[in-house]
Amino acid sequence: MDIRIVVGGIQDREDDLIVVNLFEGVQTPGGATGAVDQALGGAIREAIAAGDLRGKRGEVSVFYPRGAIPAARVAVVGLGPQGAFSLQAIREAAATAAKKAREMGVRSFSSIVHGAGAGGFSLESASQAVVEGTILGLYRYQELKNKPPDRFDPERFTLVQFDPDKVAEVEAGASMGEIVAEATCLARDLVNRPSNYATPSDLAELAMEIAGEFDEMRCQILSEDDADELEMGAFLGVAQGSDEPATFIILEHKPERPDLDTVVIVGKGITFDTGGISLKPTEKMDRMRGDMGGGAAVLATMYAVGQLDLSLHVVGLVPATENMPSGQAYKPGDVLEAMNGKTIEVISTDAEGRLILADALAYAARFEPGAVVDLATLTGACVVALGRGVAAGLFGTDEDLLARLQAAGEVSGERLWPMPLYDDYLDKLESLTADLANSGGRDGGVGTSAMFLKQFAEGYPWAHIDIAGMAFEERPNTPKRPPHLQKGGTGFGVRLLVQFLREWAAQSG
Ligand code: BES
Ligand code: MN
Ligand code: ZN
Repeated sequence: MDIRIVVGGIQDREDDLIVVNLFEGVQTPGGATGAVDQALGGAIREAIAAGDLRGKRGEVSVFYPRGAIPAARVAVVGLGPQGAFSLQAIREAAATAAKKAREMGVRSFSSIVHGAGAGGFSLESASQAVVEGTILGLYRYQELKNKPPDRFDPERFTLVQFDPDKVAEVEAGASMGEIVAEATCLARDLVNRPSNYATPSDLAELAMEIAGEFDEMRCQILSEDDADELEMGAFLGVAQGSDEPATFIILEHKPERPDLDTVVIVGKGITFDTGGISLKPTEKMDRMRGDMGGGAAVLATMYAVGQLDLSLHVVGLVPATENMPSGQAYKPGDVLEAMNGKTIEVISTDAEGRLILADALAYAARFEPGAVVDLATLTGACVVALGRGVAAGLFGTDEDLLARLQAAGEVSGERLWPMPLYDDYLDKLESLTADLANSGGRDGGVGTSAMFLKQFAEGYPWAHIDIAGMAFEERPNTPKRPPHLQKGGTGFGVRLLVQFLREWAAQSG
């Protein structure tokens, strides 16, 4: 979709559709909505007075101007109550409008920047949110379908800004929104893509392609032999049951003047999780193609980092492998030795994510990072604790890092909720045969998983984000599901990480 910014009044646009908005409870709209209402001879006010238009979140009403203005249609989207306004409300309003546009077969549509001036957000952030909502709302996964969709995507989206002095802000926000949203769509594609189309080798190839697009990015792929030389016994233990060769992906964005502390982002890249010998039940096992959601977010974030050319040394690590049962597979009771020398008793081969992350976190230390952040669809227990689609679990060893991540979560709309790392969890990982066990059982399952990871995140400030409940959207269609999400991969983590890295790159010292 072609995105542009123009100066002018939205009521003058010659488009298939123009989009304005309404806060809940407003009887007489002002601003752009007021101007359009005037041009329509009060049609919007009439709909409000009739009770048909209430400005509720998720609401969209369409008017036909019948020649009163050049546009063929007018949509009014609800922003919800002004007191509860947020960037997320802007994303959702934009997504609702974009979906409606497609549903009506619209080819070109224009919108004002929702909520500019209200809610205390900069015009730049609001513009970013509008573009994000528009692109994310229109996302769908079709690469393996032969039948074309019955409605095509709109070809052009124009943001209209009345004040010429403010156009630069709209442009900056829109361009940021486009980069971040396109990267999120890439992560969604990777999660949705079946495991036979998204193997560890496929992910490695994609990482090479990403690096190839940017002068300051390098990619290195470690093979199983390379991993063996590095003594990544935990990663290789998981990989040994699969006929698909595992890959350990290293993407490095290294600008000339990396004057700030290096940040390493790590993503779990299990391209399919059967559970291994501790086999999962059949039901919903297909979802486990999305067990590389953390890795997808890391690859997509690196793609965005390249486009933004952040003045920051950022390293993306993705240990990628299938977790399969076979005659070669690792077994419960086996002991693996991770790269840092610690030995691990495998209680469950289904607790494989923490094993591959153990080696990735140990490997991260070689960059002497100022922060390491890992994202992983790690535990069902996190979904039980926080719910599906509500918030990701946040753990870590550094209060400042955690605060920065949580703040980035609020701005980006990808919420994180802090969870404890009590030493008690370590007691539950005691093993008869090794330094620690890979599972502490059912109780406190999310805490023990994070405590396990902590044993390998040594020598740097570290945060762990459990995205098990956030990477894959399962809720049925509206009204329960926010309109910027579709069923399937969500791309969770990309907006969060990009926001976090931008703030990190902007810090003074
Ligand atoms: N990939 C799963 C976790 C998961 C569950 C992600 C549901 C998304 C949705 C992970 O590898 C796993 O199997 N975890 C086990 C750990 C247990 C064996 C200690 C779990 O959560 O049951
Ligand atoms: Mn598992
Ligand atoms: Zn898993």
